[in-house]
Amino acid sequence: MTTPTAVTKLNTDLFIDGTWVPAQSGKTFEVINPATEEVLASVADGGAEDARAALDAAAAKQQAWAATAPRERGEILRRAYELLIERADDIAAIMTAEMGKPLAEAKGEVVYGAEFFRWFSEEAVRISGDQTLSPDGKTRFLVQRQPVGPCVLVTPWNFPLAMGTRKIGPAVAAGCTMVFKPADLTPLTSLALVEVLVEAGLPEGVLNVVNTTDPGSVVTAWMESGKARKVSFTGSTAVGKHLLGQAAQNVMRASMELGGNAPFIVFDDADLDVAVEGAMAAKMRNMGEACVAANRIYAQAGIAEEFSRRVAERMQQLKVGDGSAEGTQVGPLVERKALDKVETLVTDAIDKGAKVITGGDRPEGKGFFYNPTVLSGVSKDAELMETEIFGPVAAVIPFETEDEVITMANATPYGLAGYLFTTDVARAFRVSDAMEVGMVGLNTGMVSNPSAPFGGIKQSGLGREGGKEGIEEFLEVKLLAMPQPG
Ligand code: SIN
Repeated sequence: MTTPTAVTKLNTDLFIDGTWVPAQSGKTFEVINPATEEVLASVADGGAEDARAALDAAAAKQQAWAATAPRERGEILRRAYELLIERADDIAAIMTAEMGKPLAEAKGEVVYGAEFFRWFSEEAVRISGDQTLSPDGKTRFLVQRQPVGPCVLVTPWNFPLAMGTRKIGPAVAAGCTMVFKPADLTPLTSLALVEVLVEAGLPEGVLNVVNTTDPGSVVTAWMESGKARKVSFTGSTAVGKHLLGQAAQNVMRASMELGGNAPFIVFDDADLDVAVEGAMAAKMRNMGEACVAANRIYAQAGIAEEFSRRVAERMQQLKVGDGSAEGTQVGPLVERKALDKVETLVTDAIDKGAKVITGGDRPEGKGFFYNPTVLSGVSKDAELMETEIFGPVAAVIPFETEDEVITMANATPYGLAGYLFTTDVARAFRVSDAMEVGMVGLNTGMVSNPSAPFGGIKQSGLGREGGKEGIEEFLEVKLLAMPQPG
């Protein structure tokens, strides 16, 4: 594959105080196309000094930015939404080249990601408060909302556009300035996003971007500065815990969207067509590289065999290949390490008794590809029961009773998403109430929507992104108390 023109046109420097600048060290790093293993671009590799300059710019602009009219901020987001949609083909080509997902999915992500801007452009003008009277009638209270202040945003590689817009959208709407560190595997999509926001009219210094291969130094410089008031992170639970520790030192607000281990439960009474469709969506979206991906598929004994066979038939029909090629449905994993991890998890499951119905191997040749795989009869002690697979592997575990499956589904420290397939309404509410997760898909394999609150419980995170809850994460409550004229 040749490098997409949209990639060659990108400015790959750091973006600080409205200016593109090289890293102070002069260093750059290479971005690799996971389908070809070829170098796509070189990107400025920021360090702690660059990070401090970026946060200084954000802090200096905070007061003026907070004072802008909500409509002005909303209209910047609205323009950025429109520009993203106009440029969907170019941005999708960049995303596919650096991350691997098929072009059709990348375009889908541009629409999904852009929608966060449209949603928060509408939320910007609905920031509200309260007016109350104390119980003794002597004091009047105005409960107002103000931007929390400069924010640290750290995003992952799996949805390189949407995870950025999901944080930048509400921060802009609320009136917060930002320092932003995208994942080093996928910096290019974020650079394209910066260009869109600049063109949409985002003032200098409001958004500052530092790409780096040394996230520890960059993010620590921000967290320890005392100048940032909030951190919003999407990534692993281990890194999230570390950031929470750092946030505690300066008592910063924190939103964490961390790891998942989603149970996907299919009861005997489920509509199997719907359940198979749901499994394909919840498992195969993004080649399985999603925190909400179905990780443990529990199928009740009466349908387990038929369900596994039908999912395997669908998996076999999928076309694996370079995401930029016509008709590709499953692209490569993001890097060799990810491929090795999937291979290790599958080998371990087989060693512990699982049967391969389809897949279980990788195609010959270049690129980090893994064939769509269905494993049946996965044992409870297989490593993938406790580890996010983050690959195109459906692990089916049989169960007998409702109580048994609820216990198994909840036997994890994680609680992001869960899925439930049944036609029994009473069971649907009973099981959904009992599932220890932040989001339940009932007879659907898709829970994500910019207008709905996304987030987890237990060790899957804190706070919500999207929905009317999303902007609250970027706002502080301020009380104004005054005597009530008597
Ligand atoms: C994620 O993998 O955390 C994001 C998935 C989504 O937004 O649907």
